[in-house]
Amino acid sequence: MTSNVVLATPESIAAAADLLSEGGLVAFPTETVYGLGGDATRERAVARIFAAKGRPHFNPLIVHLAPGWPAEEIAIMDERARRLAAAFWPGALTMVLARAPGCPIVPLAGAGLDTIALRMPAHPIAQALLKKVHLPIAAPSANPSGQLSPTEAAHVAAGLGSKVDLILDGGKCPGGLESTVIDLSVAEARILRPGLVTQAQIEAVLGMAVAVVAENGAPPGSAAEAEELKSPGMLASHYAPNKPLRLNAQKAEPGEALLAFGPNPPRSIHASLNLSPKGDLAEAAANLFAYLHRLDASKAHTIAVMPIPEAGLGAAINDRLRRAAAPRP
Ligand code: TXA
Ligand code: MG
Repeated sequence: MTSNVVLATPESIAAAADLLSEGGLVAFPTETVYGLGGDATRERAVARIFAAKGRPHFNPLIVHLAPGWPAEEIAIMDERARRLAAAFWPGALTMVLARAPGCPIVPLAGAGLDTIALRMPAHPIAQALLKKVHLPIAAPSANPSGQLSPTEAAHVAAGLGSKVDLILDGGKCPGGLESTVIDLSVAEARILRPGLVTQAQIEAVLGMAVAVVAENGAPPGSAAEAEELKSPGMLASHYAPNKPLRLNAQKAEPGEALLAFGPNPPRSIHASLNLSPKGDLAEAAANLFAYLHRLDASKAHTIAVMPIPEAGLGAAINDRLRRAAAPRP
């Protein structure tokens, strides 16, 4: 069997950059999750990303920039954006901004919106690839739409297979959760997706309170529902394994696998994995998707998940778990 997974080396990164500049699709590691990259200035490459993921065309993509790339060529960087970029770029913060005049990103990448989501990743392999290709690269998480995000090259291969031209294997993603998405296209900045950069970290830099947009239960047709559609990653069911999830479990019932957190977890007769025996939220975030992938492949009928504290990174972990447990369409 042939495989499109290659270890990331200077040579394979150069080959990956060539593929991208020819309109191909390359999956690559970032400090958050693996991304499915394509040339953000080329309509066909962006269309292929949507097709490979089975992603609805109303859900816009994040554009990734090499360190030092002038972001103001792409989007209007106001004072807030400049401060957040200075504090968190390169890193796990995505900013939704007004498009700059002459913005080279094809409208499809932004799902036809007049805004664009920008991020400068910190992972050395992502940076080497972005520098080499010298193009803005659109990259959603490298998984089929709605399914678990990939934190290892093998997850990408299992989910997308030959729909991607090349998968650069850079090992496990250190962060394990997606970037925080903050909307700066409005007067009052708000967090559209909790992620590795916490609300408190952002508030400290901006010197003001920043709301996290309410997620579920918006009445149809309401302003709140329209808000949800602004970041369709915020739609209820997402990040979902094949097996159902049961949240806030104190123990595993018969037939359940257990996703534990903290010291001395209860036993499970099926598979059991502990996100962080010492109760560390960063460690739990790094393990979350990889452990869900593994328990999803176990014999259990359901994955029982122990409670995770909501503080700090816990907000992003619980956001993913609630969506993974949400009713499927
Ligand atoms: O960590 C990450 O952000 C990863 C890595 C690969 O960078 N990427 C990622 O992309 O998670 P994706 O496509 O799975 O999630 C992008 C999120 C979605 O919730 C999308 O709706 C939102 O960003 N988004 C993108 N452009 C937007 C825009 N113009 N306005 C509002 N939300 C936007
Ligand atoms: Mg995603």
